[in-house]
Amino acid sequence: MSSHRIAVIGGDGTGPEVVAEAVKVIEAAEARFGFTVDKTSYEIGGERYLSTGETLTDSDLEQLKEEDAILFGAVGHPDAKPGILEQEILLRLRRELSQYINLRPIKLYPGVRSPISDLKPEDVDMVIVRENSEGLYVGKGEFTDKGSQSEVAVQESVNTRHGVERCVRFAFELAETRPRKHLTLCGKTNVLTYAWDLWQRTFDEVGKEFPDVSTGYAHVDAACLWMVEDPSRFDVVVTDNMFGDIITDLGAAVQGGLGIASGANMNPSGVSMFEPIGGTAPGFEGTGKINPLASIGSAAMMLTALGETAAGQAVEDAVGAVAGTLPSLRAGEMGMSTSEVGDQVVARV
Ligand code: IPM
Ligand code: MN
Repeated sequence: MSSHRIAVIGGDGTGPEVVAEAVKVIEAAEARFGFTVDKTSYEIGGERYLSTGETLTDSDLEQLKEEDAILFGAVGHPDAKPGILEQEILLRLRRELSQYINLRPIKLYPGVRSPISDLKPEDVDMVIVRENSEGLYVGKGEFTDKGSQSEVAVQESVNTRHGVERCVRFAFELAETRPRKHLTLCGKTNVLTYAWDLWQRTFDEVGKEFPDVSTGYAHVDAACLWMVEDPSRFDVVVTDNMFGDIITDLGAAVQGGLGIASGANMNPSGVSMFEPIGGTAPGFEGTGKINPLASIGSAAMMLTALGETAAGQAVEDAVGAVAGTLPSLRAGEMGMSTSEVGDQVVARV
């Protein structure tokens, strides 16, 4: 029997509630498919920060590096200065664990209502591959004459050949495994002429290794239009960190909302971290109204990454099936509680 060790970081806000449902579903999958997942909870997040001043400690990191995967809820606390927990926990984990891919599937499940009323499930089935370690997220830049009328703030986007190439190659490899085998580069070559020149050249070169994958290009603004007007154009989409952050929230809306938007921060040869896109959902904490499907869907991605592909597929199918039965995927509008939604998925697994 195969066995795995995972870290569970519920974090803040509704994070712990949704992660608890994901753990419940993982346990059901263990029983059904015959493997074990040894789970260690880490008290990382806003509460610990406010009482000890610690965000992510060296010892947390050392321990996390020994795990097979991390199941993550969300971080962000109303009493902490905005950005601290996000920077020092989430972004630091992504960086320290070299999770250089952020994988975000966008799928409209049958029975789920998209805000774009004429979309059908066959129109929406894409995966966004977001570069997760570089670009505008490196924190490079400067102020000149801060606070004065002549102040200048510069925020730099750093794109390395190595970072771009590994991301683009991951996207091609993924596209090759999908029925449509189509990959779109989403950028801004007409204005951001340094960064996207490097991306385009790398994309074209790596593409030669994948003759079976057809390719396309979309400027990020046009991609936003098409994701709404005609998302069937897209299969796999590869883009940089900032554009990926933005278009994946748009994608989440198209597929019915953050309630079902799953994601994975991947280090293909190390420790990956599975995390819903939605964040802490302030105001819903402790109400039992938050939708756990995004977190459960992230757990499905984790099971697949751990090699439990049948279990991963079963959980994903169950998430899709349950989503289709809910009147809405939005928090407070599901017609049942967080744990009841979790129970529904468990019953199907
Ligand atoms: C996301 C989030 C994070 C990001 C924030 C919380 C730092 O929006 O995972 O998309 O910008 O990457
Ligand atoms: Mn985001």
